[in-house]
Amino acid sequence: MGLFRTKSLEAMLTQAQDSDKGLKRTLGAGNLVALGVGAIIGAGLFVRTAAAAGQAAGPGVTLSFIIAAIGCAFAGLCYAEFAAMIPIAGSAYAYSYVTMGELVAWIIGWALIMEYALGAATVSIAWSEYLNTLLGGGIPYEWCHSPFESFTDSSGILHQGMINAPALVILLLLTLLLIRGTQESAFVNAIIVFIKVAVVLIFIAVGWQFINPANLEPYLIPEGTPAVVDQAGKVIADYSAWNKHGWGGILGGAGIVFFAFIGFDAVSTAAQEAKNPKRDMPIGILGSLVICTILYILFGHVLTGVANWKDFVDPEKGREASVAYAISTYMTGYSWLATAVTVAILAGFSSVILVMLMGQSRIFFTMSNDGLIPKVFGTLHPKFKTPYKSNWILFVFVGAFAAFVPGHVAGDLTSFGTLFAFVLVSIGVWILRVKSPNIERPFRVPIAPVVSVLGAVICIAMIYGLDSLTLSVAVAWMVIGLVVYFLYSKKHSKLNK
Ligand code: ALA
Repeated sequence: MGLFRTKSLEAMLTQAQDSDKGLKRTLGAGNLVALGVGAIIGAGLFVRTAAAAGQAAGPGVTLSFIIAAIGCAFAGLCYAEFAAMIPIAGSAYAYSYVTMGELVAWIIGWALIMEYALGAATVSIAWSEYLNTLLGGGIPYEWCHSPFESFTDSSGILHQGMINAPALVILLLLTLLLIRGTQESAFVNAIIVFIKVAVVLIFIAVGWQFINPANLEPYLIPEGTPAVVDQAGKVIADYSAWNKHGWGGILGGAGIVFFAFIGFDAVSTAAQEAKNPKRDMPIGILGSLVICTILYILFGHVLTGVANWKDFVDPEKGREASVAYAISTYMTGYSWLATAVTVAILAGFSSVILVMLMGQSRIFFTMSNDGLIPKVFGTLHPKFKTPYKSNWILFVFVGAFAAFVPGHVAGDLTSFGTLFAFVLVSIGVWILRVKSPNIERPFRVPIAPVVSVLGAVICIAMIYGLDSLTLSVAVAWMVIGLVVYFLYSKKHSKLNK
């Protein structure tokens, strides 16, 4: 049937060597950690921490961060083994093509669209929230919310979303930048990383004095917490499901804040540029994870200590742009900080969106070269040498989500797609150890069977903790993917020839 035909590792490595010619091994452990931290901190921290606290975990969102980090650490090690062994663009998609065959590779590639494309949409929606805050809430509700969002405020006025225009605008600008092939210079990137980390540290340090211990009691959302409704009686948060209160809520929250860790797999893709991959890859991946986890826990503690988690459900309080809300409402004398933080967050989000759009177009490029998706995704611009047609198609797709889908839905789907890819990568490492024990592995996962099983189990648990709506949409997305595979990709695959 050919469903499990694999690309040969030798062919892949030759291809990698060819495409690798320009790459030099220049990155040390410290550079890799910085790369990771730069790619990781974004909307997950500045938007979804509050969402997870308000909807599922309460102040216990700190524990959600720990669970998500453990899952990421195991999966991250598995990514590193693959990345050092198969240093080629295309990430998890490429690794699985060699190990588990075409169908699984296709499924991962299809799931990665959720990670990168919907991830970009989620961050652009978050960008829109903070822009609106910077403008003093001057953008009318209908112009910065999806048609699926509405609420009736305390004066009884109904606010109904229509289109998220600012999210579309930032996507358009960044798409144009990508097509021009403007490489974000290492210098600009370093400045943005520095600003992002500075904002987090300042918020933690200043906010610590404003923690109100009463906000942290009880630590988990109690069973039986009544649903929150707006003035017209519409439910805006419901705590009755198992994953919306107590310890179940902590797991539910882990699935939501997992988004904040997405991007550390970017470190694994730099394996071919690492000076000493064997030593530096695990330091880069685990080091950036440890630093971010510590920052995230402290940040979550301060945020839910300064503002009550219930504020993060209320559209008239801190449901949007939660960090700016907490500072301007509760941290007396620091309103200047709210503005500075908002500006920094907008810059930080832009770089995350750029990285995600670029990552997606690279994956499309690889899949198109393999014949699994049409050639148009691999066409390069005659002058700029960028996959410009692919970038435009991507803009239409990502833009549609950003404009018309609520941020939490796009964000949860992103978490699903990424977790799903993590599960397959974790299992793939073990499969390849058994199938091809003799391939040179510059980095080896310690106690591989244990790490790969635990990685898969924790990620599956987080998938299970996601919303039922998210799970239904995600399953529908995967089914569409299978239909596309059998109608198009299987026939057009280069492996047919
Ligand atoms: N981890 C990235 C973010 O939080 C995707 O924005």
